[in-house]
Amino acid sequence: MAFEIGPYRFANNLVLAPMAGVTDRPFRQMCRRLGAGMTVSEMITSRPDLRDSRKTRLRMDHSGEPGPIIVQIAGGIPAMMADAARYNIDNGAEIIDINMGCPAKKVCRVDAGSALMKDVRLVESILRAVVSAVTVPVTLKMRTGWSRSNRNAVEIAHIAEDCGIQALTVHGRTREDKYLGEAEYETIRQVKKNVGLPVIANGDINSAKKAQMVMDFTAADAIMVGRIAQQRPWIFQQINHFLQTGSEPDDPADELKQAWLVGHLQNLYAFYGEHQGVRIARKHINWQLGNDQYYNQIKPALMQATTASQQLTSIAAYFDDNRLNRYDRAS
Ligand SMILES: Cc1cc2nc3c(=O)[nH]c(=O)nc-3n(C[C@H](O)[C@H](O)[C@H](O)COP(=O)(O)O)c2cc1C
Repeated sequence: MAFEIGPYRFANNLVLAPMAGVTDRPFRQMCRRLGAGMTVSEMITSRPDLRDSRKTRLRMDHSGEPGPIIVQIAGGIPAMMADAARYNIDNGAEIIDINMGCPAKKVCRVDAGSALMKDVRLVESILRAVVSAVTVPVTLKMRTGWSRSNRNAVEIAHIAEDCGIQALTVHGRTREDKYLGEAEYETIRQVKKNVGLPVIANGDINSAKKAQMVMDFTAADAIMVGRIAQQRPWIFQQINHFLQTGSEPDDPADELKQAWLVGHLQNLYAFYGEHQGVRIARKHINWQLGNDQYYNQIKPALMQATTASQQLTSIAAYFDDNRLNRYDRAS
């Protein structure tokens, strides 16, 4: 069944998680090309005094992205969140997502993210303020609760539905869990059972099989994938393949991985400018190649590249050497 939020129908039910410092425009565009049906911006603070920073301006840049443009806002003051929603809509947002999923205690010095889940009345005030301030769909991303002894996601889901929220994402951990332990999906299942809203299941989905398992178990309408996409952005293609055919996807050929990585690096240089782009590219290179033994031998040299052309030359050499190594091992 197609996945829909308000008037928007998505190409599939695979969502790239918002990840601050990761899911910038070049990363979102790559994941879309590799099979994600929906992407969300990195969170944008609701504080108006930070709107003019270069960081916020780049986070608000969606030019060339396929719609609907989904912008996540973070903050703990209802009127400020309502104002931030209006401001982002004036700047192109077509869906507003409210962040109650981030484990950081404070986002910009006020309680925000999943810390809010402790104060159910404040949650309700924020949701009502934002929904009544705008005419576009508003969605909510949350965790399963404040702590393991206080998993209140179902209670908040009811409140969200009552306030006019149009979809819910649930990460299967509590705020107290941070990223420790394993995500649990029973609470997500309960949320789906208890409300009529579209539910997106999230947490530790790191393979096509796991994606199928989580969808079947929770009955969620869609699944959201975060950290594994940093290492394997082609995971979306693989999950799509598995959901459609039931057969295990092959690992993409190195030639394809190289082309995707180079394309991504070129987009980073164009988006951030060469100086910053080369530096931001380093973490993406590490995430994608970091599990490879040969990469770890040449990593120090590769990390020293300071221009786009040096970095691209090093990447080409890495993939060429790797092909030779594979050939040597095989012969
Ligand atoms: C580096 C990083 C940054 C994140 N930033 C955000 C964010 O801005 N907003 C948000 O709602 N969640 C954020 N998250 C949480 C993810 O969206 C997701 O819920 C979490 O990583 C679990 O999914 P996964 O196991 O597939 O990674 C972040 C996670 C990571 C690792």
